[in-house]
Amino acid sequence: MRKGILTIAAVGLLATGALTACGDSSDDAGSGAKTPKIGVILPDSASSDRWETADRKFLEEAFKAAGVDYVIQNAQGDKTQFQTIADQMMTGGATALMIVNLDSGTGKAVLDKAKSQGVATIDYDRLTLGGSAQYYVSFDNVAVGKLQGEGLVKCLTEKGAKNPVVAELNGSPTDNNATLFKNGYDSVLQPKYDAKEYTKGPDQSVPGWDNTQAGTIFEQMLTSQGGKIDGVLAANDGLGNAVVSILKKNNLNGKVPVTGQDATVQGLQNILAGDQCMTVYKAIKQEAQAGAELAIALAKGERKDVGQTVKDPEGGREVPSVLLTPKAIDKSNVKDVIADGFVTKEQVCTAALAAACTAAGIS
Ligand code: BGC
Repeated sequence: MRKGILTIAAVGLLATGALTACGDSSDDAGSGAKTPKIGVILPDSASSDRWETADRKFLEEAFKAAGVDYVIQNAQGDKTQFQTIADQMMTGGATALMIVNLDSGTGKAVLDKAKSQGVATIDYDRLTLGGSAQYYVSFDNVAVGKLQGEGLVKCLTEKGAKNPVVAELNGSPTDNNATLFKNGYDSVLQPKYDAKEYTKGPDQSVPGWDNTQAGTIFEQMLTSQGGKIDGVLAANDGLGNAVVSILKKNNLNGKVPVTGQDATVQGLQNILAGDQCMTVYKAIKQEAQAGAELAIALAKGERKDVGQTVKDPEGGREVPSVLLTPKAIDKSNVKDVIADGFVTKEQVCTAALAAACTAAGIS
């Protein structure tokens, strides 16, 4: 990975009169030049709240502010549907596609087809391995994993855990991010296993980040261990909440630290209740703005220098990338996520959590 200076400026360069907010035609009459139109495909709405509540909202805001024509669709976890949506967007005159792939195979098929039709492409949040996207916009996902590993260590230390058994519940095996998160947290946990400070417990991936399956998998982990699991590295808040539900059934919630990611309302509430140890806040607004800005440039046939690349481990290509910085959140700074406008106090601080919110300085 080559690091450099980001040259992403605020979305706002698009105030050209040539763009219309809802023009439907794909060709400017006579000129042959295509009207910029952006198609975004989100992956699902069940693996994390973020896609519908944050990404869609912030992308819409950015496109609207720029007055560019756009369409945002959600594939709801269905790979065939994902490809159908992409085809429809291209037939409908999209000049740039921004995708969150469901796996690299179908992602690559969509990107390659777009390329053959002269449609510009961006990998949003997830890198498509072996793909052909012109840009990749995401967070430093190894750093996300490191924060999770360090967060779990901190919570276990605070609990005075001696040689704790740690279970790992990883994200989808088809999501490159899940691999990166795991690289990050294993870089913290493996040395502890090696030093026999911690004991490595069950370690399993959750297909499609499916929260329901995560509960089943974790229940089996707990049974196989005879109840002896002292800490859980759960790769996002959805998986973390599935773990917390099973721990509750076994009167173990609050005793066994659990990690997460995405700073969802549920995740933050679990933290305030003492059932979840930490989450990772990724400022999706910044990610959406960076993605939208690049999509708008590409849709207009322009290029931008982002000053950084990520190497696609499969295709070997250096992909121009924007990687943002994640932040660890525990009880002490839940208030920062609220102050950033990502979630509201009203959403997080229910009557049952009123005292916990006050104690956490959320006013
Ligand atoms: C995203 C996470 C999300 C997960 C499940 C990952 O690719 O980076 O933010 O929780 O997918 O949707």
